[in-house]
Amino acid sequence: MQILIIGGSGGIGSALISHFQTLYPAATLYATYRTAMPNAFQRKRAVTLDSKLQWFKLDITSETEVKNLAEQLPKLDIIINAVGILHDNSHLPEKTVNECDLDFFQKNIQTNVMPTICFAKHFSRHLKSSTPTFFVALSARIGSISDNNLGGWISYRSSKAALNMAVKTISIEWKYKLPRCCVVVFHPGTTDTSLSKRFQRKIPQEQLQTPQFVAQSLAQLLTQLTPEDSGNFYSFDGSIIPW
Ligand SMILES: NC(=O)c1ccc[n+]([C@@H]2O[C@H](COP(=O)([O-])OP(=O)(O)OC[C@H]3O[C@@H](n4cnc5c(N)ncnc54)[C@H](OP(=O)(O)O)[C@@H]3O)[C@@H](O)[C@H]2O)c1
Repeated sequence: MQILIIGGSGGIGSALISHFQTLYPAATLYATYRTAMPNAFQRKRAVTLDSKLQWFKLDITSETEVKNLAEQLPKLDIIINAVGILHDNSHLPEKTVNECDLDFFQKNIQTNVMPTICFAKHFSRHLKSSTPTFFVALSARIGSISDNNLGGWISYRSSKAALNMAVKTISIEWKYKLPRCCVVVFHPGTTDTSLSKRFQRKIPQEQLQTPQFVAQSLAQLLTQLTPEDSGNFYSFDGSIIPW
């Protein structure tokens, strides 16, 4: 089995790598990082040359880099995009529309939406056609239009809604092109990572997931999904979130 985790350096991405390594010891994992590989994997790599886990440096907003990566990778069974931003060094998610900064809005689109489209474009030929495959993007419930009762966080919210539409569109197109591929978006729930750290204060402890739990939930979900489930928006508990 061959698995690609995009954003393997993130909280959820690195937990997915560890979980898949345990679940499928014979699998080869390919993982991307932008800044640095997580420390745990760096140490492991120093001791054993881990040919079952290969890292690639990638700025996901560069189509050229995504295309170069595609040229280096073999056929794949599972592609998961675990990259995302909610804030950066100079911007927090907006409380009101008056706080919206167009550069930050565009950065959300560039990081949270375009890369999944770009991966679909350059990696569709990597997905095996003779066996079931999965193309998964991590989204967020906040991107559900029908579930939006609170407002706020307009850049992140809009980018996740756009991501959901992109994935739905890809799923329809691939029903004919890649009929054995299941294309879905996945909501991990509020998870204890650097993305959510400064917004966790008001979240009851029992509603805050660990990245390990999220990785396990997604891996478990993938064992249950079939191509008929393609085009859905799943929560970590396996339920379908309305668009
Ligand atoms: N945590 C939550 O509560 C929560 C809730 C709902 C949805 N999600 C979604 O789950 C996904 C994973 O989030 P997380 O919590 O694991 O966040 P995280 O720990 O902050 O990880 C984010 C990842 O995105 C990567 N990244 C950001 N910009 C990039 C770029 N231009 N090029 C390449 N990589 C880039 C980071 O790479 P470097 O570290 O190498 O820079 C890191 O690997 C995101 O899509 C997020 O929206 C998270």
